[in-house]
Amino acid sequence: MYYSEEVIEEVRSRSDIVDVIGNYVQLKKKGNSYFGLCPFHNEKTGSFSVSRDKQMFYCFGCGKGGSVFTFLMEYENYTYPEAIEYLAGQAGVELPKQELTEEQKQMADYRATLREMNKDAANYFYCLLRREHGRKGYEYFQNRGIMDETIAKFGLGYSDIYRDDLYCYLKQKGYTDSQLRDSGLVEIDEHGGHDKFWNRVMFPIVDMNGKVIGFGGRVMGDGEPKYLNSRETALFEKKKNLYGLHLARRSKRQGFILCEGYMDVISMHQAGFDNAVASLGTAYTEEQARLLKRYRNYVYLAYDNDGAGQKAALRAIEICRNVDLPARVISMAPYKDPDEFIKNLGAEEYEKRLQQSISGIMFELQVLAQQYRLEDPEERTQFQREMAKRLATIGDVYERENYIEAAAAQYQMNPRSILNMVNRVGEQQQKTAGYERLQEEDRQNHRREVEKAKDGKLLQEKLLLTWIANQPAVWKKLDGIVIPEDFSNELTREIMNQFTRQVQNTGTINPAEMIDAFPDVEQHSKVSAILNEEVRFEGSEEEDPGLKREFANKAITETVRRIKEESLNRQMKEVTESQMESGEKSRRFLELMEQQQKLKNLYITLDNG
Ligand code: UTP
Ligand code: MN
Repeated sequence: MYYSEEVIEEVRSRSDIVDVIGNYVQLKKKGNSYFGLCPFHNEKTGSFSVSRDKQMFYCFGCGKGGSVFTFLMEYENYTYPEAIEYLAGQAGVELPKQELTEEQKQMADYRATLREMNKDAANYFYCLLRREHGRKGYEYFQNRGIMDETIAKFGLGYSDIYRDDLYCYLKQKGYTDSQLRDSGLVEIDEHGGHDKFWNRVMFPIVDMNGKVIGFGGRVMGDGEPKYLNSRETALFEKKKNLYGLHLARRSKRQGFILCEGYMDVISMHQAGFDNAVASLGTAYTEEQARLLKRYRNYVYLAYDNDGAGQKAALRAIEICRNVDLPARVISMAPYKDPDEFIKNLGAEEYEKRLQQSISGIMFELQVLAQQYRLEDPEERTQFQREMAKRLATIGDVYERENYIEAAAAQYQMNPRSILNMVNRVGEQQQKTAGYERLQEEDRQNHRREVEKAKDGKLLQEKLLLTWIANQPAVWKKLDGIVIPEDFSNELTREIMNQFTRQVQNTGTINPAEMIDAFPDVEQHSKVSAILNEEVRFEGSEEEDPGLKREFANKAITETVRRIKEESLNRQMKEVTESQMESGEKSRRFLELMEQQQKLKNLYITLDNG
């Protein structure tokens, strides 16, 4: 591990998880926990819980969970050491510089090296643009009306016509071939290294923290492919970044403007629309939509004014809808894209287009309308029917009615007749939906039954572990009664092992520390699920504290008894089936039976609550 356990614990104990997550998610106190809308999946009710006592988060909706470090790793895409460093910085904990083995160092520095290399490359391209060798690139930008200030703001550059220019430069900076290969900036074969980008103007792609993680490069003039993009690397994940977002998220403007291309974003920023972003040479994804939703509550779509752009816009509307991010569509007509529009009509006209933007649904209807000759009564009716189908999917009654009115006005139709059609379609849809729902419920019930039988045993183990995490004082009541080996499941046993180790080493239970001891974040969620079992027992709602304690005693005793019984049965079976000699066998058997007897008198008393 990169940092010592003590240092990590120091950082953890000085960073309260409720405060840290509270910076990202609006949290409300409910009982012993805080709740909010889960940032990892799309939801309307807050199933995302954060516990100050346990220093853990867990989403009852999507099952993601873990410690404060897990949260930052998932949300900010940090590695474990990066999450530690970030929180140490926030909490004012000084991290010791460590002597690392060569191997550890290589691992730890891998991403840092890639980052460094991307930065060096960006500098190289940027400087070249201002030199004689880069004149072609500089003139290209000038011809496209890009000002020096904008070049600096976006760090635009140029890659030379020589095919191993950057390779030689980076090599001379001391990077190894294998590092260079991993950066995606060069390709290396038996003839040596070749630059991926040459004779192109260069657009550095920057992550949320302002660090270069990849590039797009445009050919000079015509040529294929027009734009070349870095491949994905350990740093660069296309679906999790947007071009221009690091600038746009600081814009004072409302909403984001989502464009198709690099040049669109750049022209928009130059014209004062500094809330423009673009997806990165790939299709817009739900991850990106969720990323946008972190900072703004709606987006404008400024896609190309052609068939492909229209299709992309419809898809983007759908994606935005899936994450509950309202989308509005801007018309660029008669120009092809924002870049050309701005160049021809200027910022003021574009501002008007923002005002005139239409909602996603109205845009969908507009595209639909293009497929019909509306002056023909028959086609007009068909259109109306399709429109009704679309409008019937709007869940909110008032919103639906408003759209019916707007659509009626737009296409000069009678709102009453649309409403009738919508209601008829709605009934039809409800019938099929109802039937499908019943089927689905059946399936789920069946699944639940199966799981219940299988999970009964596991549930008891989860309950006990949750109990311990919630009330570490329980531990001393269990000492000598339940041991890790009593747990039937690999993960629950390991958690019990870790708790035992913690008590031996520090005298207390520390759920968050235990979570971080698991190397894999997928496991963080699984462990969090186990430590967030619902502890509810007969009488848990009891008001009288004495009575309530009695019920709790009964409940925990029952849980422990069941775990123990299962365990003893398991051990007896093992002894019976084992190869040991018969004297030993019966001795062990008797021992287990004795334990079984003792179990009958088990009664655990909790100190409080
Ligand atoms: P466009 O072809 O619409 O580019 O592609 P553009 O922005 O109008 O380009 P200019 O104005 O001719 O310079 C839009 C975006 O699609 C991606 C790039 O991100 C581009 O900015 N793209 C396009 C590629 O990744 N590869 C290509 O070959 C073409
Ligand atoms: Mn263009």
